[in-house]
Amino acid sequence: MAKPLIFVVDDEPESGGLLAYYLGKAGYEVAQFSNGPDCLKALKRNPGIVCLDLQMPEMDGLEVLKRIKAQNSKLGVIMVTSNNAVDAAVQALKLGAADYIIKPADREKFLATVEDTLDQTRVVGEIRNLEKDMESAFAYKNIVGESPAIKSVFTQIEQVKESNVNVYINGESGTGKELVARAIHFSGADENRPFIDINCSALAESLLETEMFGHEKGAFTGATGTHRGKLELSDGGTLFLDEIADMSLKLQVKLLRFLEEKSFERVGGTKKIQVNVRVVSATNKDLQKEVEKGNFREDLYYRLVVFTIHVPPLRERKNDIPLLCSYLLNKFKDELNKEVTRISPDAMSILNSYRWPGNVRQLQNVILQSMLMSQTDTIEVENLPQEIRKTRDEAAPPVQEVSASPQAEEASATGSVSEPNGGSGLISLDEGEKQTLLSALKMTNWNISEASNLLGISRTTFYRKLKKHGLSQTRG
Ligand SMILES: Nc1ncnc2c1ncn2[C@@H]1O[C@H](COP(=O)(O)OP(=O)(O)OP(=O)(O)O)[C@@H](O)[C@H]1O
Ligand SMILES: [Mg+2]
Repeated sequence: MAKPLIFVVDDEPESGGLLAYYLGKAGYEVAQFSNGPDCLKALKRNPGIVCLDLQMPEMDGLEVLKRIKAQNSKLGVIMVTSNNAVDAAVQALKLGAADYIIKPADREKFLATVEDTLDQTRVVGEIRNLEKDMESAFAYKNIVGESPAIKSVFTQIEQVKESNVNVYINGESGTGKELVARAIHFSGADENRPFIDINCSALAESLLETEMFGHEKGAFTGATGTHRGKLELSDGGTLFLDEIADMSLKLQVKLLRFLEEKSFERVGGTKKIQVNVRVVSATNKDLQKEVEKGNFREDLYYRLVVFTIHVPPLRERKNDIPLLCSYLLNKFKDELNKEVTRISPDAMSILNSYRWPGNVRQLQNVILQSMLMSQTDTIEVENLPQEIRKTRDEAAPPVQEVSASPQAEEASATGSVSEPNGGSGLISLDEGEKQTLLSALKMTNWNISEASNLLGISRTTFYRKLKKHGLSQTRG
């Protein structure tokens, strides 16, 4: 493979020339610039990396670095600095430079730094692309699944995430409504905006009122100070009203007034407080029925339900079960400090045919319990809780039980339901390991040293695992 093009930017011809000479000798194609603006103009030539002098008269290295990163955040930049400017070099690292070298450059060290930086850039680039594919295939913002039903939820999240419309999320208990609410917020433009949630069924009416709207000093006995409510705290971000159907009619009136006027008063106060929030609400009840029954205000319903996302029950996306199991085994492995990594074919077939009235939350509990019960590295049928095992006796043969409901038939028509791994029924931790590598990289902003630290493995092991999962073709 031809060696990549490398930019050398230095106002002093001798020191720039020396680096260019080393690089040329090592087989790289080199382009030399005597100032930042010229280099910036030439970025469309797609250099592999840029070696950038820190101290230059016209535009200093830090400024050039910022502009390079603004154009292409992935491009590796090595800062070149004199001995007395190491502070600035450290600042450059914070701004995203890959590394720095001190003038006069030692040939060996310099070339090693160049190679390392190229490697890093390449690996990160490949993983990023792959991660994008994986995200859509397996886990979108912590929501695991690849069934058409869950993918349609991902699409709807994409449709609303950048807008400010109120979103209503509906679905049975344990289907992942809260995960969806968080995904809408955290995949939006600015992740630093507040996400504030209130469970409308957990608190008595008056408590919920002060929790939402806050109160002024002396509003009631015990109100010794002013208290800002969750509406105020969520200004500029998202207010997640969970179990919205359980909100009392009195509070519904207050909430409606807020949605109409975009302002409210704290309990016991008269001052209008203006906030700009997007309201995401959720319930497992049928909100429209609650309107018909007179338990929920119709005008409020139309304010909240601008965009609806329905999260389907697990039995309508049964082909996600093996993937979820693998994810959950991996998730609990460390928590329990127990190496249970497999599910026997019989146990898997029972998990596949069960109806999961408690949806993903129930599956999560079942995997956790079964892992605790298991004495080996495998979850066997007898480790499953009694109520799940009963399915086997009722279901004969199990595969037919899978397609017992019309919805399940739909699901099984779109993907394999009972053959998670080439028909063996065994699922392994492989997929989980891949996910773990990717999460560690994401959490450390793609810093391989930090990611391997985080996982408590060496850099070499980390690279080996990347390679094993086809995440890197460049390192051994
Ligand atoms: N697709 C999924 N992938 C991974 N974890 C999931 C998924 N769906 C749900 N979970 C997990 O299952 C549990 C229940 O999810 P969540 O709290 O979002 O459900 P919910 O719909 O809000 O339930 P409820 O109506 O009871 O409040 C959580 O621990 C969540 O992390
Ligand atoms: Mg919930």
